[in-house]
Amino acid sequence: MRLNDCHNFHDFRTLARKRLPGPIFNYIDGGADDEVTLRRNSESFERCDLVPSVLRGVSSVDTSVTVMGQTLAVPFYCSPTALQRLFHHQGERAVAAAAARYGTMFGVSSLGTVSLEELRKAHSGPQVYQFYFHKDRGLNRAMMARAKEAGVNVMMLTVDSITGGNRERDLRTGFSIPFRLNLAGITQFAIKPQWALNYLTHEKFSLPQLDSHVDMGGGVMSISRYFTEMLDPSMTWDDVAEMVRLWSGQFCLKGIMSVADARRAVEIGCTGIILSNHGGRQLDGSRAAFDQLAEIVDAVGDKIDVIMDGGIQRGTHVLKALSLGAKAVGVGRYYLYPLAAAGQPGVERALGQLKTEVERGMKLMGVTTLDQLSRENLRFR
Ligand code: FNR
Repeated sequence: MRLNDCHNFHDFRTLARKRLPGPIFNYIDGGADDEVTLRRNSESFERCDLVPSVLRGVSSVDTSVTVMGQTLAVPFYCSPTALQRLFHHQGERAVAAAAARYGTMFGVSSLGTVSLEELRKAHSGPQVYQFYFHKDRGLNRAMMARAKEAGVNVMMLTVDSITGGNRERDLRTGFSIPFRLNLAGITQFAIKPQWALNYLTHEKFSLPQLDSHVDMGGGVMSISRYFTEMLDPSMTWDDVAEMVRLWSGQFCLKGIMSVADARRAVEIGCTGIILSNHGGRQLDGSRAAFDQLAEIVDAVGDKIDVIMDGGIQRGTHVLKALSLGAKAVGVGRYYLYPLAAAGQPGVERALGQLKTEVERGMKLMGVTTLDQLSRENLRFR
């Protein structure tokens, strides 16, 4: 199987599985506990049917949306994910370039492997910077000041990771950063020599968003230690309100699932919320974001931009979320498998396919702009 054989999410996933050492593939692919929420995220879209309209004159369609002050050429963006140079040596460089080519936002994770500043210089498109809340308040302020200096468009605080999710696949393979693999894991690396060669011959692995603030020893401090020792489980709404004030620009919370929390986000001055269960990687048993979308939009959709992520695999999934009232959606694994499978050409192909699917879906639904979609277009089983 090659890149040209990849026509959808599942094809890219198959190719990624072929190219990656097992522990790394499973780190991307897996979720928490029994992976119930992970499965629900994509299944939830299939419990909802589209009802199209016809004969509406759809020779050209406009796929653009405006969200958190940014105009995107497509209604999806690349949600921030950690450690991308582990998946392919081009890492964030490939994803940022592909996002820029399709006129959309790229989320840089504070656990990213290419610096915010380098990515900002390379691409002028809108950039989101995702970070976590540290015990050291000075560190939080320093990270925000750095993002401001770099010209980040949207600050994003992830609030669903107050403690790490129980990822049992990683326990089985021994996946950790830095690598501390068990015998089975080492064998998995040995049988993927091309990945190993690329990893070893390109620049040394590092976490530049953190290395300059925290002594990660060039990525030597383990990520799990970072979560348990550096992040602050006592954080409250008051702490976040102070950060929103300090940033005084587009600020969103990622990992909101309840109506009450969505209302609090509005009260403290956030301009967006990401309705998300972290791709099923944190609280297993959590509701699918798509299933929770209508409630949240009804409560706060006229006051704040609601974006959802989790389980998006098709253009029709994007259209269903927008019909329910999301302003845009985020994708994670949708671009990570193509990254692992083929670097930048892989991500470009996947984002191009999603755009084509959105365009085709709009024509088949009988709309020329995305704001024409509404709940009239949906029926739940
Ligand atoms: C993530 N996600 C994530 N979120 C975040 O706020 N900071 C991060 O560093 C990461 N890292 C990360 C790594 C990997 C491998 C995955 C799969 C996910 C969550 C991500 O932003 C997004 O919420 C989910 O991926 C959305 O679900 P789908 O599209 O993967 O189903």
